[in-house]
Amino acid sequence: MAGSARTLELGVFIPVGNGGWITSTNSPQLPATYEYNKQVTLLAEKLGLDFALSMAKWRGYGGETNHWDVTLESITTMAGLAEATQRIKIWGTVHMMIFPPAIVAKMSATLDQISGGRFGLNLVSGSNPYDLSQMGLWKDLNHGQRYDLGEEWIKVVRRLWTEDRVDHKGTYFELNDCMSYPKPSRHPTIICAGQSDRGFRFTVENCDVAFFWGSDDPASIKRALRAKEIAREMNKPDFKTNALVTLIPGRTDEEAQARLDHYNAGVDKIALATQAVEYSTDVSVTINQAAQNFLKQNETFSAVLPGTMAGSPETLAKRLAYLVNEGDIDSVTLIVPDFIGDLETVGREVTPLLRKYGIETFAASKAASVEEEAAR
Ligand SMILES: Cc1cc2nc3c(=O)[nH]c(=O)nc-3n(C[C@H](O)[C@H](O)[C@H](O)COP(=O)(O)O)c2cc1C
Repeated sequence: MAGSARTLELGVFIPVGNGGWITSTNSPQLPATYEYNKQVTLLAEKLGLDFALSMAKWRGYGGETNHWDVTLESITTMAGLAEATQRIKIWGTVHMMIFPPAIVAKMSATLDQISGGRFGLNLVSGSNPYDLSQMGLWKDLNHGQRYDLGEEWIKVVRRLWTEDRVDHKGTYFELNDCMSYPKPSRHPTIICAGQSDRGFRFTVENCDVAFFWGSDDPASIKRALRAKEIAREMNKPDFKTNALVTLIPGRTDEEAQARLDHYNAGVDKIALATQAVEYSTDVSVTINQAAQNFLKQNETFSAVLPGTMAGSPETLAKRLAYLVNEGDIDSVTLIVPDFIGDLETVGREVTPLLRKYGIETFAASKAASVEEEAAR
């Protein structure tokens, strides 16, 4: 493989919701505080990760763990983290349904200044009716209409970033001689967390990166390749993809499996059931693969997201490399149980092992320089 290394960008899905992405009384009970998320992001920067991304979530699922009852708002969190960091890219999430485009255009331009051009946006077309209607902000649109709204939304944002004054009368938004200054110094990276064909088409046409759930099973690989296939059909052969991956490391495969089993033994069934009810009330539940995964998680009483990979650093590197190489993936967003200890393991131990599968990361070069320093 020498000479043909694939460059992989690596980032962290920072845990702005309490408990992170494991719904269990036995998993690390991560606090959804700014201080903790700052610690995680500073560590990610030190480890050589390329980006930190926060989700947007407005309502939790209760249960014994009070899962996600506490969530930090994404964009304001990233504003703080932009100031706290130097190099790492800082990406925040917005629901296009609830944030008017002119507000996000200006917030992004402001964040571009705070971060020195490191800010990016993750766009979400949906969520679920409970999450947003509790604030009176859910729009009763079907799946296609949400992407119609998204198309209008992003076109307006782009115009506000580049034009002096914007007039727009569309189906969802109206702007009258709208002025938006400052302009961002560079085009903020835009990713979209939609993994349906309609979502991928929206993303290829309007964004820079398609963001979807990833693992090493055939369905996940197929989904990843589908994004690239749609990009080629739309004449964008260089379009990039980003897979959201959950890793549970252990010193050995047995130890990692024991961690997973322990988390599953403490699964919070009430929180999972609430999550399933909330997503099943959405009219697009059968199309929305994220919703389908939440329903599956509830049916199987799994404390972790479907596709979670547990193993030793060797095993994780092998499985991750399989996903990246077979799925033609350009970047990976990491979820781990403990965003300090486990993130260190992935950053320092797993990334160097990806090299034997032809995958180069900035984190691996950082890990090598830390080792060299220690040896001196
Ligand atoms: C990788 C990924 C990240 C997501 N992040 C969020 C999020 O931060 N907030 C949220 O409400 N929904 C999030 N979602 C779920 C979306 O609400 C939902 O999957 C999407 O809007 C449905 O579009 P689709 O049917 O095209 O997949 C995420 C989904 C994926 C696949």
